[in-house]
Amino acid sequence: MYEDRIRLAALRDRVMSADEAACLVDDGMVVGMSGFTRAGDAKDMPAALAKRAAQHPMKFTLITGASLGHDSDKTLTEAGVLAKRLPFQVDATLRGAINRGEVMFVDQHLSETVEFLRAGQFGKLDVAVIEAVAITEDGGIVPSSSVGNSASFAILADKVIVEINLAQPLGFEGMHDIWIPGRRPHREPLPIVGVSDRVGSTTVKIDPAKIAAIIITDTPDSASNALPPDAETQQIAGHLIEFFQHEVKRGRLSTTLPAIQSGIGTIANAVLSGFLDSPFEHLTMYSEVLQDSTFELIDAGKMDFASGSSITVSQRMQEQVFGNLERYRDKLVLRPQEVSNHPEVIRRLGLIALNTALEADIYGNVNSTHVGGTHMMNGIGGSGDFARNASMAIFATKSVAKGGKISSIVPMVAHVDHNEHDVDILVTEQGLADLRTLAPRERVKLVIDHCAHPSYRELLRDYYQDALRYAGHTPHALERAFEMHINLRDRGSMLAGQEG
Ligand code: COA
Repeated sequence: MYEDRIRLAALRDRVMSADEAACLVDDGMVVGMSGFTRAGDAKDMPAALAKRAAQHPMKFTLITGASLGHDSDKTLTEAGVLAKRLPFQVDATLRGAINRGEVMFVDQHLSETVEFLRAGQFGKLDVAVIEAVAITEDGGIVPSSSVGNSASFAILADKVIVEINLAQPLGFEGMHDIWIPGRRPHREPLPIVGVSDRVGSTTVKIDPAKIAAIIITDTPDSASNALPPDAETQQIAGHLIEFFQHEVKRGRLSTTLPAIQSGIGTIANAVLSGFLDSPFEHLTMYSEVLQDSTFELIDAGKMDFASGSSITVSQRMQEQVFGNLERYRDKLVLRPQEVSNHPEVIRRLGLIALNTALEADIYGNVNSTHVGGTHMMNGIGGSGDFARNASMAIFATKSVAKGGKISSIVPMVAHVDHNEHDVDILVTEQGLADLRTLAPRERVKLVIDHCAHPSYRELLRDYYQDALRYAGHTPHALERAFEMHINLRDRGSMLAGQEG
């Protein structure tokens, strides 16, 4: 039974249904579950846990790599089992519960979650639920389309439930590089000096006795929901390509560019696709999520190698990539998220980090997470891991949202995820502001003239003139700093009162 998928024969009698395995989870537990931006998530256990909770009320802390597919966060939220959730999510139902204060959400840098676990900050990890394509002869777990936090969950948990997913190709075997750091404070350096370096093992090594249940599933990953490029994201890509060309002319970059990190979502994916029609070549990525654009660039011969923690692609690209893994074997590696997002490697490689902002202020502070300063969108994800340590931290956003009712450039961000010290470049479809080497007062004109939407420029200039009355290194008229946000909250538009 499943000889090619469960090669350690002694484990085959641990195959059971998801409903039976769900009985290993109980009230008050801490559960680690695989899944990183919809890839490699446990497919059957979330629904089985919701079903168990209907008979056996329970609440637990759920830790994943990042977001889950298959509406799992919705299912678990509706079942009322989530006491605490971390470190990232993108689900509308869970978002609602978080913003009503019903689920406690810990919005965490993605590289840090397992450090907290190792240090015992969450108590012990009771159960790990890990999707795999196989268990090897020696009991090694072969992850699927993501690694995320799965390796450390399996290593740290008391009990491990493995979901063997027949829909995930065995060709993933050998694509992972599992490196686990030693204990602090005597930890050795992380020995990655190039994007394609392999420094660990291809499987997650644990004592097979800890594998308490094996579930057989046959469900593909949810497809990415990033939208195709539109006119504005193409303009953003255009500004960035032009900027990189300018940096090449000045001798500060070469046409291969440093390795690139690209964040999640429509904008980052579209911007990366923009490299297809650019003079740049032999590109590499050291990123966390590999989206459609990564494979478009590899297929076009523009990208030589991509290192990530997950592959999250559209349905079409899933068929193309997962159906032809051999073609990509020497061009890809999947790593644990604490390695893909490791500050040491990011700093060493001098990455170009490209992430998306909800809003940025006239001084270059960025809010990526809190709509209106209060309501959680998705979470900081890996953007902070990368922005702080990259050689060039770029934040992209459309200049307006919701049909122009929201300006993405504001006097003061209502929540700060990336402060002015970490943000190097701001880019919108309007243009690009290179903030490097500029003092706060020097940044203002550039941000307003190059990045803000024309319909908001006068309002922002007027704010800055007012702020100058109070002087300071970073002038602000505090009583007006959130005027635009308050207009949006109370009157439905940041422009309210300005129209006539
Ligand atoms: N205020 C309120 N809503 C805003 C907004 C603002 N200033 N700016 C954008 N939005 C809304 C958009 O209207 C859109 O809403 P919709 O889904 O109802 O259409 C939504 O936010 C997404 O914006 P979009 O412009 O389509 O960009 P995106 O899909 O690239 O997502 C982020 C942008 C910021 C939400 C997303 O990149 C994110 O969660 N980032 C944080 C995590 C991260 O950076 N990870 C990177 C490492 S993986």
